[in-house]
Amino acid sequence: MGAATDRRIDKLIHLLVANGTVVVPGPKIATEIGVTRKTVWEWIEKLRALGVEIKGHHATGYQLQSIPDVLTPSLLRTDLGGVEIGHKIVHYFQADSTNSIAMELAAEGAAHGTVVVAEEQTGGRGRFGRTWYSEKSTGIYASIVLRPPLPPSAAPILTLAAGVAAQAAVSGATGLAVDIRWPNDLLVNGKKICGILTEMSAELDRLHTVVLGIGVNVNHRQMPPELAEIATSLRMEGRRVYPRSKILVAMLKEVEKHYRLLLAEGNGAIATRWEAASSFARGKRLTVRTGSEPFAATTAGLDRSGALRIRRDDGREEMLVSGEVSEVK
Ligand code: BTN
Repeated sequence: MGAATDRRIDKLIHLLVANGTVVVPGPKIATEIGVTRKTVWEWIEKLRALGVEIKGHHATGYQLQSIPDVLTPSLLRTDLGGVEIGHKIVHYFQADSTNSIAMELAAEGAAHGTVVVAEEQTGGRGRFGRTWYSEKSTGIYASIVLRPPLPPSAAPILTLAAGVAAQAAVSGATGLAVDIRWPNDLLVNGKKICGILTEMSAELDRLHTVVLGIGVNVNHRQMPPELAEIATSLRMEGRRVYPRSKILVAMLKEVEKHYRLLLAEGNGAIATRWEAASSFARGKRLTVRTGSEPFAATTAGLDRSGALRIRRDDGREEMLVSGEVSEVK
């Protein structure tokens, strides 16, 4: 599983932030967080490699140049407040896949609301066995452990609830117009900026664990050539750098809100919101890929189960429960 970030690194960041842009002597940091001065220096170097601007060295002390945009628990905690989703955050500087780690932690008994977050993934996974491009310190790579008191048939609507939550969070935090492509890809100007991979373990009548893995392209300056046609980043579209921490905090709060809404009011409340948030809900011309031959269809609303109603060109109506859609332009 690799090693989660040492809680004392989190303390170090917190200490530097708490001291504003004042020079903090190396020995003082070492004593306060309980490590040697050499370790402090090594950790400062590690933070610098992530783009955290810290002036100075062990002889003079260290001084933060600006509030760092790292996703460590103590920095997120200040803005999160008393939420259930995110009450425990496990941070990694580098992880293979936060979804894999969250599934392992869940199998070991991790509580509902545990969040795994990484600055970088070496084996980020997407839907349909694809890889998820997970550049260091530019994107959000987070996985949320849920223990829903719901039957396995609720999994699709839970996935859509996560999409609606992510849409609300990203549009709220950036002011950009964010669309949802069924089931839960977020698009800005027609290109993908966020994907959600839902993985689960279930018993016959009850979902045991659901892991919602959320990837957001935030501050990428450019996408790799093979993705450039279909994916973009918030920075590329909004022409500014966005604080990842603000978007992640908004994301966790919105997921909590929509999760509670689903439990309290049922599928209909999520389906209505999804339909309002997505241009794909009705009258959209699509190419549908479900494993067999791709075919053309037009959307005709979202079923309360989370399935997408589509009408084939010969008039037949169907409910799409899995697969991939793309807009015909
Ligand atoms: C998709 O294909 O659209 C889903 C992409 C999901 C990517 C996220 S990044 C955090 C989490 N960890 C993973 O390995 N995948 C998900």
